[in-house]
This record gives sequence, C-alpha cells and structure tokens, in this order.
Amino acid sequence: MVSACINHLLSQPMWLVLVSSLGLLSFLKTSTSLLKWVYATFLRPKKNLRDYGSWALITGATDGIGKAFAHRLAQRDLNLILVGRNPTKLETVSREIQAEHPGTKIKTVVFDFSSEASAGVRSIIEKATEGLDVGLLINNLGITYPAASFFHEVDEKVWMDIVRVNLVGSSRVTQAVLAGMIERKRGAIINIGSGAASAMPSHPLFTIYAATKAYIDQLSRCLYVEYKRCGIHVQCQAPCTGTAICCNKNDCKSSFDSEIILVHTITRSLRRGCDWSSRLRSTVCSLLGSLVSMVAGLLASRARS
Ligand SMILES: NC(=O)c1ccc[n+]([C@@H]2O[C@H](COP(=O)([O-])OP(=O)(O)OC[C@H]3O[C@@H](n4cnc5c(N)ncnc54)[C@H](OP(=O)(O)O)[C@@H]3O)[C@@H](O)[C@H]2O)c1
Repeated sequence: MVSACINHLLSQPMWLVLVSSLGLLSFLKTSTSLLKWVYATFLRPKKNLRDYGSWALITGATDGIGKAFAHRLAQRDLNLILVGRNPTKLETVSREIQAEHPGTKIKTVVFDFSSEASAGVRSIIEKATEGLDVGLLINNLGITYPAASFFHEVDEKVWMDIVRVNLVGSSRVTQAVLAGMIERKRGAIINIGSGAASAMPSHPLFTIYAATKAYIDQLSRCLYVEYKRCGIHVQCQAPCTGTAICCNKNDCKSSFDSEIILVHTITRSLRRGCDWSSRLRSTVCSLLGSLVSMVAGLLASRARS
C-alpha cells in the first residue's frame, strides 16, 4: 500500500509533488499549533493570578466588563484599585465587593480620562500605586460613538474623547504600572481590545473606535515581545458585541457569565501575546488554506492519472 503510494507519487510531475508536500508541511504545522492551542486553552493548569502580585488595577471598573472583572478578581483573593470617573459609582461598587469579599482591600481613583488633563493620569496612578504590589492591570476602559456616523461627520469632541480615553489613557496607565512590574520582575497586563478591530475585516461607521482598538491590539503584541524577558505577560482580549449583552450591565452575574470566560481565559493563556479567539481564528484560516492546497494537489493528480 505504502509502496503503491510512493510509486504513484514518483510517477507525478515534480511540481505537483512539491506543491502537495508544501501543503502537507503547512497542514502539519497548523495542526500542531491547533493542538497546542487546545492544550493551552483547556488542559494546561490554571495560573494563580496572585503569583503576579497581590493587587489588580482595573480601569472603567464601575460598569460592564470592568465591574465584572473587579468582582471576579476579588473572588480570586486579589486586592483592587478601581479607577473610574464617578466617585459615587466607585463607592457603590467597592461596597458591593466588600460585602461579598470582606477580606479584599480596595482603593479607588477618580479620574476622567476624557478631560483635557488626561495626560496627568500617569502621575496620579503612580502615586495611587506607590508601595503596592500591583501584579495585574486590566486596561478595560473604552468608549465609542453615541451612534453610527460617517467619518467626516464625527463631532470633534467625540473623536478627541475616544482617542484620549481608548488610546492615550490606556497607554499612560500602562506606563504608570510598568516600572514597578519591571522592578519585581513579574506582572500581567490585559488590554481590552475589540472584535471590531481583531475579528472584523473593517468596522465602518465606527471607524475611529475600531482604529483605536487596532492600536490596542498591536500595542499589546509589541509590549508582549518587549517585556516578556522581564517576566511581564501582555495580552489583548478582544470581546465582541455579545459580551456586553451577556455581561449584563445591571447584573454582573448573568446566567451565561461571559466575564468568567474572560477570567478563565486569562488564567490559562496568560503567556501569549494575543487572546485565544484571535489565535483560533488565525489557526483555522491557515488550516483551511493548507487543506485547500492539499485537496487541489490531489485533485490535479487524479485528473492527470
Ligand atoms: N461591551 C461590548 O460589547 C464590547 C465589545 C467589544 C469591546 N468592548 C470593550 O470592552 C471594554 C468595556 O466595555 P463595556 O461595554 O463593559 O463598557 P461600559 O459598560 O460602557 O463601561 C465603561 C466604564 O468606563 C467608565 N468610563 C467611561 N468614560 C470614562 C471616562 N471618560 N473616564 C473614566 N471612566 C470612564 C464608565 O464609567 P461610568 O460608570 O462613570 O460611565 C464605566 O465604568 C471597552 O474597552 C470596550 O471598548 C466592549
């Protein structure tokens, strides 16, 4: 059987053998990375997030995904620094978490990232985190348009607010915590990107939002490479619209707890530069590509014989 296959292969023109071999190699390569992904996502033992440090800093922690993260990280025995612009909402969230997890220490930082003074956030965060073992940063804060709009019609203030909050704010908060992480030689930074940049080929009518999230995605990849030698893991999680629906704003413990998936994912996969869904997508695309190339090679060979 094997010798018949080899004979059949040898009777084929050289170019066909070469194309099929390339397809086979590529198939083996992508299958291996798919298996690695299955292991890293479902089988590898979970990380203890406290190994990065005993405090976690979360931006935009008074609602949605950020608030859900705060609850889940408190459950994992992390102390919290919650950053938001509304002192009353920060107070409420802190009280809620402390009622559930009385041992959790919570600090709050009030800051409006869309204000003209947004550049000052770095020193504010540095001061707030002084002397604290901040091991985990969740750069969750992000805003978008009030309604779908053509690029040339976007109000100047809306544009500037999105850039200040999504792009400048996340970058400065990251800078503020990095020095301490480098000193302690450990830390993890989770940047919340968006499917609008990482999954969709384009996201018209929300162009500035999608572009700032593409920045977050690439920032995370580059930081991952820059700082992995310092024991710091950087990852971009790219939720899609469903996350907001599942992570119901008024009920962070909805039956389909998508924030658990986020925390579950980071505990297993926090050694890589991009999140599991982006890796799965690229692996599946590449696997399909090599399958198509192999099938094309086989069909061409059949047609000739
Ligand atoms: N939800 C989704 O479907 C979805 C999909 C893809 C990506 N994402 C990304 O996931 C992240 C969280 O989204 P979300 O829907 O959970 O957000 P959200 O519910 O709208 O909550 C946003 C949080 O950010 C705070 N915030 C807004 N503007 C601020 C400012 N100028 N200064 C300081 N804090 C400010 C809000 O504070 P207040 O409570 O004071 O308003 C709130 O705590 C964002 O980065 C978003 O782009 C979300």
